[in-house]
Amino acid sequence: MNNNALTILGIETSCDETAAAIVQRTNDGQGIILSNIINSQIEKHKKYGGVVPEIAARSHISTIENVIKSSLNQAKMSFDDIDAIAVTAGPGLKGGLLVGLTTAKALSIAKNLPLVGINHLEAHALTIRLIKRIEFPYLLLLVSGGHTQILIVNDVGKYERLGTTIDDAVGEAYDKVAKLLNLGYPGGPIVEDYAKKGDSKKIKFPRPLIHSGDLNFSFSGLKTAVRREIEKSIPLTKKEAENICSSFQDSVISVIINKLEGSIKLFKIKNPNITKPNVVIAGGVASNKTIFNSIDTFSTRLGITLHVAPQDLCTDNGAMVAWAGAERFSKNYIDNLSIEVRPRWPLDPDAKTAIGAGVKA
Ligand code: KG4
Ligand code: ZN
Repeated sequence: MNNNALTILGIETSCDETAAAIVQRTNDGQGIILSNIINSQIEKHKKYGGVVPEIAARSHISTIENVIKSSLNQAKMSFDDIDAIAVTAGPGLKGGLLVGLTTAKALSIAKNLPLVGINHLEAHALTIRLIKRIEFPYLLLLVSGGHTQILIVNDVGKYERLGTTIDDAVGEAYDKVAKLLNLGYPGGPIVEDYAKKGDSKKIKFPRPLIHSGDLNFSFSGLKTAVRREIEKSIPLTKKEAENICSSFQDSVISVIINKLEGSIKLFKIKNPNITKPNVVIAGGVASNKTIFNSIDTFSTRLGITLHVAPQDLCTDNGAMVAWAGAERFSKNYIDNLSIEVRPRWPLDPDAKTAIGAGVKA
């Protein structure tokens, strides 16, 4: 083991990316990415307009060995250079999680390396610390295909959920809008692109739960409103589709800014010594530059500093899992071989399950 740094292999298989990476964490908490390999299954799921769990699990099985080998090769390392293996143990699709965890357990036995089970959401939550020095506590807007939550990140393993979606996740809403408009999968980047060319004032979509008085989200009604709008004007011109995407995104952004404002107030009450909180956006939807820039415009008024990781670290990847493993391992959080996959695994165990949130709580 290098005295100055922990070297961690991270494995991610919770959804439709088979990913592995080697990341180092120095004693003073700095992160270095030595390799980051992703085998995306997008092409295999595209024609179904979403992830098919059985296809995902089979694809993980056939590619995981090569993805791990490539991560070692790219880092010019062997297992002798690795200090621990970190693997996503949940939440996510059970079949995929089992492939990753079983592989990690086998490697842990064969190579005599400690195993660190990672909550995929914690990996998104901590990614920002891989690239910059952000101290705890910070406020986190976690927006992905399966989750939409606002949390206070108090420390590694210590999360307080302030709000969550009570139905669809925001990324899921982007994917559904794209599907309704036949734009392809995954929908997020395409809808963002269409939105840039459209007029956000053309259609006034609802701003769900904006007056609810709590910090929860709901996107299912917005999706229905988009469907109705599309049905009204079928067949749509490209311009009409762009206007729908732009108006939809405008509604999403208004709700997010509204809920963030409430969360920042609460964060400041809970942390009176922090005058200018760090707010981090993470998860696949965090790669949406329009959302980031819109929130950032209000940063001064909100009294925050806004952060986001580079795009390739926002969507699912192995480096975020390796980094979360390094953060946990540095605190001696190690798992034994009896660890099991957890398809549901809330970051804040004390937070109530939101009504209608299905597997996304
Ligand atoms: O974190 P992630 O890679 O996987 C999950 O853990 O869910 O997030 C994937 C989600 C998908 O719903 C995708 O459409 C969305 O992130 N996404 C975006 C953008 N890029 C990816 N949503 C909005 N705008 C984007 N630019
Ligand atoms: Zn994710």
